[in-house]
Amino acid sequence: MKRVAILISGGGSNMVALCRSMRGDHPARPVLVLSNDPAAGGLNRAREMGIPTAAIDHRPFGADRAAFEAELVKPLLQAEPDIICLAGFMRVLTAGFVNRFAGRMLNIHPSLLPKYPGLHTHARAIAAGDTEAGCTVHEVTPVLDDGPILGQARVPILPGDTPDSLAARVLEQEHRLYPAVLRRFAEGDRTPVYLA
Ligand code: GAR
Repeated sequence: MKRVAILISGGGSNMVALCRSMRGDHPARPVLVLSNDPAAGGLNRAREMGIPTAAIDHRPFGADRAAFEAELVKPLLQAEPDIICLAGFMRVLTAGFVNRFAGRMLNIHPSLLPKYPGLHTHARAIAAGDTEAGCTVHEVTPVLDDGPILGQARVPILPGDTPDSLAARVLEQEHRLYPAVLRRFAEGDRTPVYLA
């Protein structure tokens, strides 16, 4: 059985979707939900599901990412994860941290990478006049929102869409895509998953 740690910063809806999927004959189980924000709503949702949680507040560390990560890594290593899923984790990780977990850290990003790495993806897609948007799960490498693509799901951009309405449509697909990719990845298969 593969052990999965999930890193969150907020409400954790992707984390919930991942945890709900890891049941029955699934080859993985959640062993830790870890946040950089002790007030992240997702921590309570994880506790309600009986999953161990931990939080390391990034704020006391200021701009010292390495010092923050030196603390973040402690509960993570204790959980002995085989796979780490970033699910709405909004801190940029240093190369030192990422390389430590090379080949076993995944991220979900709310755009069709390589389009729109970084923030405000939905506003940027609408402003560009794009007719479709979506989400991507990829392996994490030291370059932000880069790394081999493991899956994508697409949605149309509709007339009158706002960043919020588009985000909601994409988020529904994130909840389908991430569990599908995690299952395949946990089975040792890195063939990308493309959802319509
Ligand atoms: C999701 O839309 C995820 O793709 C995005 O944050 C949201 C988290 O929602 N991630 C990023 O923007 C990472 N750069 P959730 O907490 O409900 O899963």
